[in-house]
Amino acid sequence: MASEKPIVVVTCTAPVNIAVVKYWGKRDEELILPINSSLSVTLHQDQLKTTTTAAISRDFTEDRIWLNGQEEDVGQPRLQACLREIRRLARKRRSNGHEDPLPLSLSYKVHVASENNFPTAAGLASSAAGYACLAYALAQVYGVDSDLSEVARRGSGSACRSLYGGFVEWQMGERPDGKDSIAHQVAPESHWPELRVLILVVSAERKPMGSTAGMQTSVETSALLKFRAEALVPARMAEMTRCIRERDFQAFGQLTMKDSNQFHATCLDTFPPISYLSDTSRRIIQLVHRFNAHHGRTKVAYTFDAGPNAVVFTLDDTVAEFVAAVRHSFPPESNGEKFLKGLPVEPILLSDELKAALGMDPVPGSIRYIIATQVGPGPQVLDDPVAHLLGPDGLPKPAA
Ligand code: DP6
Repeated sequence: MASEKPIVVVTCTAPVNIAVVKYWGKRDEELILPINSSLSVTLHQDQLKTTTTAAISRDFTEDRIWLNGQEEDVGQPRLQACLREIRRLARKRRSNGHEDPLPLSLSYKVHVASENNFPTAAGLASSAAGYACLAYALAQVYGVDSDLSEVARRGSGSACRSLYGGFVEWQMGERPDGKDSIAHQVAPESHWPELRVLILVVSAERKPMGSTAGMQTSVETSALLKFRAEALVPARMAEMTRCIRERDFQAFGQLTMKDSNQFHATCLDTFPPISYLSDTSRRIIQLVHRFNAHHGRTKVAYTFDAGPNAVVFTLDDTVAEFVAAVRHSFPPESNGEKFLKGLPVEPILLSDELKAALGMDPVPGSIRYIIATQVGPGPQVLDDPVAHLLGPDGLPKPAA
């Protein structure tokens, strides 16, 4: 009995990432292989993270999954692809003659429980952190120590970039089987300590079209997307890598904004067209450009994904002034919700010159709140059993 472990349980956390060279379009829908490489910044898990517990036991009769406390259909094709892939890697490891450290069988079923520390309703992409966390947790329980890009990628393309901290590149690869379509760290989270990230959560009126369906229509109809992927992205990847290596904020910020704008241009070039930006998004774009024009250089940079929320990059010495500019242009509605979450930001008064330069009529309530964060590390294993989302019976613990 002493040598027998009836249940193996591991809990992990994984971060959200935000692309500065965007992934948009697949060359293989089944394997989730992209038409271009992409590059992202991993956000700090103190502010945004997914936590996932995976447990395997001889006693489980089927694979099961709970997301934010609700049981979900484990038969979803992308979830099934991740499970198949991790079990294939585990079998491969065994046949390579590795001593199995755990008395488990690959035929054991798995229970998974996962939750986010941020509201899914805020429209912040959670699938990247979710699938990266799933891949990482499954790898722990099944004893897999090889590259997990493929496992995470089969869940959601951008998820493979959440497997690392700092600055991460997803190389598109060339092989039809996708073996060379993997994520790599370009620089660790300690590389650029002054870099800050502000997430401007916009009050969304409607749910935008999902990335998967959107990019599929773009691949089918947009000549601009094809041109971008083939002719422009390779040089952008090289230039973005240089900007990061040299901590060149001006060039980094400009290229980040241009790449976001180009991605949204390919959405408009899609037929029927897709528009993810709202009036508030466009006002944020204007605010950033006016703020930079006032200072005579690029001090802040925006990027937008498949929704209206803005992610703004800046350096620590500019955070307070930019947050004050946002407050001035988008005065918070006093609905009891805190306007500023995350890292503390010192309140300052805007100069009259800057106020005049922004020249915008304030639009109260159109930004719900700001999350201030920074660059952060990759997935982690939590050692404290208190962190487990599944109890000793393999079922979700009742919410505290
Ligand atoms: C605009 O990774 O969500 O955020 O692979 O179909 O799951 P699937 O799509 P997903 O697309 C992300 C698109 C993006 C840009 C990016 O993160 O690179």
